[in-house]
Amino acid sequence: MDDTKDFGTPKKVTDKTVSLTIDGINVTVPEGTSIMRAAAEAGLSIPKLCATDSLDPFGSCRLCLVEIEGRRGFPASCTTPVAEGINVKTETPKLEDLRRGVMELYISDHPLDCLTCATNGDCELQDMAGRVGLRDVRYGYEGENHLDSIKDETNPYFTFDPSKCIVCSRCVRACEEVQGTFALTIDGRGFESKVSAGNKDFLDSECVSCGACVQACPTATLIEKSIIEQGTPDRKVTTTCAYCGVGCSFDAEIQGDQVVRMSPNKNGGANKGHSCVKGRFAWGYTTHKDRITTPMIRKSIKDPWQQVSWEEAISYAASEIKRIQKKYGVNSVGSISSSRCTNEEVWVVQKLTRAGFGNNNIDTCARVCHSPTGYGLKQTLGESAGTQEFDSVMKSDVIMVIGANPTDGHPVFASQMKRRLRQGAKLIIVDPREIDLVNNSVHIKADYHLKLKPGTNVATINALSHVIVTESLLDEGFIKARCEKEDFDLWREFISQDKNSPESLEEEIGIPAETIRKAARLFASEPNGAIYYGLGVTEHSQGSTMVMAIANLAMATGNIGREGVGVNPLRGQNNVQGSCDMGSFPHEFPGYRHVSDDITRKTFEDAWGAKLQGEPGLRIPNMLDEAISGTFKALYCEGEDIAQSDPNTQHVTHALESMECVIVQDLFLNETAMYAHVFLPGSSFLEKNGTFTNAERRISPVRKVMKPKNGYEDWEITQLLSNALGYPMNYKHASEIMDEVARLTPTFKGVSFKKLDELGSIQWPCNDEAPQGTPTMHIDEFVRGKGKFFITEYVPTSEKVNAKFPLIMTTGRILSQYNVGAQTRRTKNVAWHKEDLVEIHPHDAEERGINEGDWVGITSRAGETVLRALITERVQPGVVYTTFHHPESGANVITTDNSDWATNCPEFKVTAVQVSKVSQLSGWQKNYKDFSKKQINFAKESAAKIN
Ligand code: SF4
Ligand code: SF4
Ligand code: SF4
Ligand code: FES
Repeated sequence: MDDTKDFGTPKKVTDKTVSLTIDGINVTVPEGTSIMRAAAEAGLSIPKLCATDSLDPFGSCRLCLVEIEGRRGFPASCTTPVAEGINVKTETPKLEDLRRGVMELYISDHPLDCLTCATNGDCELQDMAGRVGLRDVRYGYEGENHLDSIKDETNPYFTFDPSKCIVCSRCVRACEEVQGTFALTIDGRGFESKVSAGNKDFLDSECVSCGACVQACPTATLIEKSIIEQGTPDRKVTTTCAYCGVGCSFDAEIQGDQVVRMSPNKNGGANKGHSCVKGRFAWGYTTHKDRITTPMIRKSIKDPWQQVSWEEAISYAASEIKRIQKKYGVNSVGSISSSRCTNEEVWVVQKLTRAGFGNNNIDTCARVCHSPTGYGLKQTLGESAGTQEFDSVMKSDVIMVIGANPTDGHPVFASQMKRRLRQGAKLIIVDPREIDLVNNSVHIKADYHLKLKPGTNVATINALSHVIVTESLLDEGFIKARCEKEDFDLWREFISQDKNSPESLEEEIGIPAETIRKAARLFASEPNGAIYYGLGVTEHSQGSTMVMAIANLAMATGNIGREGVGVNPLRGQNNVQGSCDMGSFPHEFPGYRHVSDDITRKTFEDAWGAKLQGEPGLRIPNMLDEAISGTFKALYCEGEDIAQSDPNTQHVTHALESMECVIVQDLFLNETAMYAHVFLPGSSFLEKNGTFTNAERRISPVRKVMKPKNGYEDWEITQLLSNALGYPMNYKHASEIMDEVARLTPTFKGVSFKKLDELGSIQWPCNDEAPQGTPTMHIDEFVRGKGKFFITEYVPTSEKVNAKFPLIMTTGRILSQYNVGAQTRRTKNVAWHKEDLVEIHPHDAEERGINEGDWVGITSRAGETVLRALITERVQPGVVYTTFHHPESGANVITTDNSDWATNCPEFKVTAVQVSKVSQLSGWQKNYKDFSKKQINFAKESAAKIN
């Protein structure tokens, strides 16, 4: 079946079917299906303009008229449902006449520039004019019209040309139904009606640039600037977005070797045709002038870079690793992989480390984001992964969002969640800050916003669970059948204690006890309660405790093991789940099996032909500490930028400076690369084959759209390094790496590139028991057998406010930017976020004489930086908030190296600070400016020497 076919109206799902005849063909479809869709499913195509199958029918264009035997008039087939036994005709002389009349009216008020129009040949209006046989316009083109309407070109990625608009409302409905933003309306009536972005231009409007309206527009009114500038594509390759953990599927549309458009794939398992501004438009970084495509080496970071051949760079890197291991021992080197890499890339990096370096010093950036998720869910449920697929939310009756900001961090999933909320699901937000979902629009308001003080997550969830236990709101049947009794009894006794009551904790957490009680009752009383959480849960000193407390709450209310419920970590980066699955933690082989497990280790030793260590290796913080103390000397860092993303920047850079060989593999000379001795240029997601695994355990294909600009896919570079070190790797294609993953990892046993091509995507576990994958986990029993409750004692963080540091700083991200911003800063997305700002409550600002836009110094126990102030009541008094997308902001100069007790995940979300008005940059920022300028010049000089 053509995967881009538009059936006109959405699919209906019901067991009841209806049979009818359309143009003599017998058709049977689900009850409620439109005649238009029934015809399309039978291979017939009724002309249409205002209908498309991603939107509810609207019935405004009157092009899709049909005749129904025995009924009067000409009903619109998009809005008329099928009925048993009816006989429909879609092509009669009368219908053809009516349709030509409709088209004539449209065309009489449309510019006649089809041949020079950017969408010539890819325009539904043009197609329909041809389809209905319109050859002439009887009214002429002289009368009143819209042809002089002014274009809105303010959005960096698309234009709005009202002269071409047919007021079909598809854009307005897409913004409402698909995206859930309600940025557009139709203003005026009759001839005066026009599409309006709230009487503002697009850039200043509520529009979040998701592209849904552009996708829906049947004319060239809303159109990508890339298509206007570069022309229409001639081929496409389906691949997966390289940004967030939603994992949207896209068709990379190509002309020659240039991507001209990324169109969200209708059949994408995670996104079903929707997108956000990053995946849809922000791919420009892949061809940005800052990209480095030639390897570079140098002896010291004080030296200029020297561009060299791949052979020389790899041989130098390998000789340095060998030299260092010989001098300082086998454990003096290690690797860091990244959640931005494919599964296959991560696999070879951890294999190189374990088998090539001969140690377990491999860690990944999940250390600083979701390592507590891995730990906490493994302990309680038995598997280090979320329990549901995204579609599950459509069956939730109450949704609790804890420490996550889906509209900014996971926008496409947020649109789906908003759809469910508009259908009436209840919403509880647990967050110190007023995120968008709290008061999203007239259509969505949180039933409860538990605006807790940063650092009191565990106290808050204990209080919620206390209410559920003491008010007999437990799901006793579920607990008895599915959970370990002894542990549950201990937990029940613990959580019932008065110290966990909302009344005892209300002052500590800053939420009235009665509000907690009501929220707990709401969560426990609805049939299906789902919990979604993010880094506001994990990046705390009690991150792992909080993950276990969430699992406790879900089990206590029976909310695991079916659709509509579950514990759902929203993963930040595209492949956080995958990088953890692929064994990039120092204590675990792929598939979360401990390195001390003799049977597993033997399996890998046999497969890899190498002796492997049975002791866990170093985590990132340990590598850094040991670098400073002089025992860790060389690092291979692929796709990660620890000098910007990890806490206490001064400590990280001191550690990097202390090493004798830092090898960075990346697209750009990132902050870490400024401390490197070997730079191996990486390939972008458009230039490689592989897979990403998203937040719902969905493995999706990443497919090569163009040749790597640097000459190699990233896994090939790791393979070159491994071979140069004397540990042979001989993969010919990324698919062979996945075949090895499947051979050695029970949960991936049934995964292969071939199967991915057949199914589109696969949710693991995928093996003999679940050959098509597993959308919902823990259905009949938990992966660990019975669910295990854990005691979650609240231990306040040691990061205390005092007279010197009276405010708490917390951090987050915004929609247009991604993580350290290395990619999104190199796109037009900067139009929405030119710099990181510090949000401060009006009371705190007034007390300090701070006005909007002032430079303010933020000082913590770790360091100081300076940002501009944004005064807002989104943050509560006593709390300030910032993002970390620009390196010169130095947000992590302030964060401390406090971390989660179980996993060392940094406590990014709680830093005691003072904020005061200043007039110049901080000392760190001044040094940073000089240092980075010098390092960038070193790279430029080396390129100039060659060219
Ligand atoms: S902009 Fe496009 S989708 Fe919107 S009303 Fe006009 S023609 Fe229809
Ligand atoms: S780009 Fe998205 S948010 Fe903006 S108007 Fe279109 S549909 Fe609405
Ligand atoms: S929601 Fe995430 S995966 Fe989807 S397009 Fe946006 S950034 Fe990419
Ligand atoms: S397509 Fe049915 S009325 Fe427009």
